[in-house]
Amino acid sequence: MGKSSKDKRDAYYRLAKEQGWRARSAFKLLQLDEEFDLFNGVTRVVDLCAAPGSWSQVLSRVLIQGQQVGRAAWEDKRYKELLRLRQQGSIVDDSEEEAPTEAKPRKDVKIVAIDLQPMSPLEGITCLKADITHSSTIPLLLQALDPDYDPTSSSIEASSPVDLVLSDGAPDVTGLHDLDIYVQSQLLWAALNLALCVLRPGGKFVAKIFRGKDVDLLYAQLKVVFQSVTVAKPRSSRASSVEAFIVCTNFQPPKGFKASLDNPLGAGRRLEQSSSTHDNLNGSPRTVRDDGIVELDMDTQSAEDAASDRQGLADRSTRWIAPFLACGDLSAFDADASHKLPEGHVSLDPIQPPTAPPYKRALEERKKMGGAYGKVKGAG
Ligand SMILES: C[S@@+](CC[C@H](N)C(=O)[O-])C[C@H]1O[C@@H](n2cnc3c(N)ncnc32)[C@H](O)[C@@H]1O
Repeated sequence: MGKSSKDKRDAYYRLAKEQGWRARSAFKLLQLDEEFDLFNGVTRVVDLCAAPGSWSQVLSRVLIQGQQVGRAAWEDKRYKELLRLRQQGSIVDDSEEEAPTEAKPRKDVKIVAIDLQPMSPLEGITCLKADITHSSTIPLLLQALDPDYDPTSSSIEASSPVDLVLSDGAPDVTGLHDLDIYVQSQLLWAALNLALCVLRPGGKFVAKIFRGKDVDLLYAQLKVVFQSVTVAKPRSSRASSVEAFIVCTNFQPPKGFKASLDNPLGAGRRLEQSSSTHDNLNGSPRTVRDDGIVELDMDTQSAEDAASDRQGLADRSTRWIAPFLACGDLSAFDADASHKLPEGHVSLDPIQPPTAPPYKRALEERKKMGGAYGKVKGAG
């Protein structure tokens, strides 16, 4: 497929090149931020499975350079539109709309990016080449967050915990649906285990998921440690793909819970056991309704509930279904549609070709064999 044709078929691919993003994934994070205000009050971030680095670029532009992108750009656009409509007389309304706060660089920003693949450097971001499913990665991460951390110590908790952990991890897709979903879920558990070691109470965790058939159990477990869990689908993520993002806010580990590498989550029922000491899950949490929707029996404990719980008044059988939210401005491009190219469109090269793609060896082998179809020059 020619570059122009891909530009037409995938508006986000074209925009990423025009706006200087290393990958179209940048728009997914920006649209998640538009909806969830992810970067509000955030200065310490861990970006897992970060290569080629478009999410790290978003972090750099918002936190280090103080650029108006994502939520800030959306608020600014909305405010200007409101002023324009007022001036035109289309809106008659005396209420004072507060101007959005100006975006500016933040102080003491710390961003650590990790990937299996090498990542081209980005100013102000510590890049680590490591496997997030490997336990040796946690001390590396803790040391990157805090140079005084002693990697020989037995502690696996961050001394200056982070505000936000992101994970856009995806395995090389095999096309075998169940296998892909399984490997993806292992990446997600690894990301969550890292997050549990480094997040501060109140922190956020955002991760890519593939919506497989048992994903509701994952939501249930996340709901034990985060006050709010939402499944979100940005407009830049193709509707035809099973990809979505889990957005978890207000990290509230159950009393007595400690992250452990010997007994990580996902390898057993530790969260459920731990939470049962504070009565979060009871028996089988899962019921499939006649209409096919899966309901989970959860204790949706708010601070007030917790207080009334202490007085023995809490209702422990509240039903909970993870909300699903489409996000991104409605005027944003539809990722599944072809779009007309702007007049005079010139197709640009990608900003950052992969540094060491897994298919590199295959390309080299193919070249050695004489090209795409193994033809050797001169041979009939
Ligand atoms: C979709 S890409 C991430 C794109 C990135 N968020 C961006 O904006 O440029 C998925 C990444 O997951 C990484 N990955 C897969 N398995 C991993 C693992 N076990 N440890 C670290 N990174 C992993 C891959 O190397 C790949 O770069």
